[in-house]
Amino acid sequence: MSSAFENTIFEDPILNVIHLLNSIAQENPEAISLASGRPDDQQCDPSLIDRGLAQYKHYIAGTEQSLATLLCQYGKTAGIINETLAIHLQVDEGITVSNPESIVVCLGFQEACTLTLLSIFESGGVLLVPDPVFSGITGIAKLLGITIVPVPMAAFLDPTALRKIIEELESRGEKTKALYAVPDFSNPTADSLSYHARKAMLSLANEKNFFILEDTAYRYFRYEGAAIASMKSIDSSRVFLLGSFAKSIFPGLRMGYVVAPEGAGVTSFSTNLCKAKSLITVNTPALCQAVVAGLLIENEYSLKGLNQPRVLSYTNKRNHMLECLEREFPFKVDAQRRVSWNHPAGGFFINMQLPFAFGESEMRECAQQFKVIVFPTTLFSLTNEAANQVRLSFSNATASGVTQAIGRFRAYVESRLQ
Ligand SMILES: Cc1ncc(COP(=O)(O)O)c(C=O)c1O
Repeated sequence: MSSAFENTIFEDPILNVIHLLNSIAQENPEAISLASGRPDDQQCDPSLIDRGLAQYKHYIAGTEQSLATLLCQYGKTAGIINETLAIHLQVDEGITVSNPESIVVCLGFQEACTLTLLSIFESGGVLLVPDPVFSGITGIAKLLGITIVPVPMAAFLDPTALRKIIEELESRGEKTKALYAVPDFSNPTADSLSYHARKAMLSLANEKNFFILEDTAYRYFRYEGAAIASMKSIDSSRVFLLGSFAKSIFPGLRMGYVVAPEGAGVTSFSTNLCKAKSLITVNTPALCQAVVAGLLIENEYSLKGLNQPRVLSYTNKRNHMLECLEREFPFKVDAQRRVSWNHPAGGFFINMQLPFAFGESEMRECAQQFKVIVFPTTLFSLTNEAANQVRLSFSNATASGVTQAIGRFRAYVESRLQ
C-alpha cells in the first residue's frame, strides 16, 4: 500500500554513507579503522575555546560594540565576524573581499553548500561534480532535487574533456549552472587541480556562464610543494568560496562560511543566501564565531600560522602510512604492479588501487575477518567509478594503529589473491 510519507530519497546509498560507516564500526569494535576522515583527536584541543573567546572579548572591549548583544542576542544572519574573515582571506589568500557582507558565516561547509545550492538552482539546471566525490555535496543536492551530472575524475581534471562534457549537455538542452570542486586534496581521492586546470575551468565558467563551488576544506593541509592559487583568488566573480574550520580548528565548532561571487555583472547572491539562512538556522551560534575570530586575531589573521602544528603532525602521519604501505606491499613495484597507491602532497587520505573490486560486502568481510575497516572509494561514486579503490585515512589513527591496520589489510589482500 502506498503511503503519503513514502520518501525513497532517504534510501539512496549516498545518504547512507555515514550511517554505513558507523554501523560497521559499531559491529566490529575490535577492528582498527582507517575509514573515518575525522581530524586527529589529539588536535581537538578544548583550551582553544577559552583562548579564542578571551581574545575575542579583548578585541570587542576595544570597540564600541556590546559584548552582551553580540554573544547573547539573536545575531545578524550573515554573521558577526565577517570583517575578521575578510582580513584572514586577504592575509592567507590574497583575496580582497570588497564587501564583508558578501561573506555569510555558516554552520560548517554543510550549511554553506546547502545555502549556495538553494540560491543557484531555484529554476533547475545541472550540477557537475567529479566522480567519486565527497557525499556531503551529492547528498544535499539529491535532497534538494538538483540534477547531478558526475564527471569521471580523469575527465574532471582535464579541461578539454570537461569542455566536451559541458557541450554535450548543452546540445541536449541541459544547462550547467554550477560545478563543485575541491581544488586542493579532494575527498576521497586526494586529487588536486593544477593551476592550468583552475584557470581553464574558470574561463569555461565565464564562457558558459556557470558558477564554481570551491571547497577549501583541506587547502591548509599541504605537506610538500608550493601552494596553488585558490580559484576564488583568480576570479572572484565566478566562485562561491566554501570554507570550513572543521579540520583547521575542530569540527565541534560547526564553523564555516560562504563568500558569494563579487564583481561587475553578477547578481548579489549574499542577500539570497541570508534570506535562506534566516529560515534554516537564523544565525550561526555567536559563541562559535567568537572562538574562530579570537583565534584568527591571535594568529595575525592567518589560518596557516594557526595550523602549523597540525600540518607537521599530519605530515608525519602521511609519511608513516606511506612507509607502512611500502613495507607491507613490496610487490607493488614488480612488473605487474598489482597494488598501487597515490602519494598525495596534502589532505587526509591515500587512495589505493587493488587488483579486484572492493565494495560494501568486501568492507564488511575485511572488518569481520581481518579486523581492519577501510572505506571503498566507490561508495562515493554516483556511477561505478573507482570500483577497485579504497580510501585509507591517516588523519585520526595512531602510528601503531596504522602499522597494525596496514599489516592486517595486507593479509586480507593476500587472501584475495590466492
Ligand atoms: C570535501 C569536504 N568538504 C568539507 C568538509 C567539512 O564539512 P563541515 O564543515 O560541514 O564539517 C569535509 C569533511 O569531511 C570534506 O571532506
